[in-house]
Amino acid sequence: MSAARILLFDSGMGGLTVARSVRHELPFAHLVYAADNAAFPYGAWEEQALVKRILFVMGELIERVEPALVVVACNTASTIALAQLRETFSLPFVGTVPAIKPAAAQTKSGIVGVLATPGTVRREYTQALIHDFASHCHVVLHGAGRMAEIAERKLKGVPVNLGELKAEIAPVFHEEEGRRTDIVVLGCTHYPLLADEMAKVEPWVVRYIDPAPAIARRVADVLRDAEVQDASKPVPPHNSVLLTSSRAGAEDALPAYAKLGFHLPEFLDLRV
Ligand code: DGL
Repeated sequence: MSAARILLFDSGMGGLTVARSVRHELPFAHLVYAADNAAFPYGAWEEQALVKRILFVMGELIERVEPALVVVACNTASTIALAQLRETFSLPFVGTVPAIKPAAAQTKSGIVGVLATPGTVRREYTQALIHDFASHCHVVLHGAGRMAEIAERKLKGVPVNLGELKAEIAPVFHEEEGRRTDIVVLGCTHYPLLADEMAKVEPWVVRYIDPAPAIARRVADVLRDAEVQDASKPVPPHNSVLLTSSRAGAEDALPAYAKLGFHLPEFLDLRV
């Protein structure tokens, strides 16, 4: 029996932050990382068109990969399409949604920042998380229009413009009546890629919540419950990568995937 295939899905390279944690949790699983890079960034898409695109691409990926489980390693996709993905495909899905619940439980100042894409910030799903779990807090939501792209550029070797990054994160640093933001939820899987740079430009020190370790634990639990036990089999770990662009559309990203252990990319050419 070969190792369980886990399909990790994002619009770009952000989901690699989740893949890293899943690899840590399940050292011998076969990870297939799929990026809908032909449609990147998802943050600016109109909702109905995005759901249609995600369902279409996911159908192609599932047929090809036949995974035991899918991780939607993208908040922008999970907050709009998770329910429909689960209705459409009969396999387990683990989603990624802004970690508002733990942030609201941990804040001492009562002011929580949420950095996410403009799409995630607009979602009813995100509003419901705030309503259900953080009604006792002041939640400062900010749709960072350019951060996912800044993170992608960094992985492609372009130096991060710290001034631009500072302007992107500044709105979640809020002060009122002697209290200020003490926790910032990273509500986009690209943002942990900018952790070092954010620490350089933050107006004051806060704690950032990266949900990747919790998602990885959830993946391990779901696989265990589904009795897909062979994810822990001692075979050499295996990573592969599928991109929805042509090779020409992804050439500049390939060294970054390779550096993170994802070699031999395949190109599906699923144009928008
Ligand atoms: N990484 C994605 C997320 O978690 C979004 C990036 C984008 O395509 O805008 O939301």
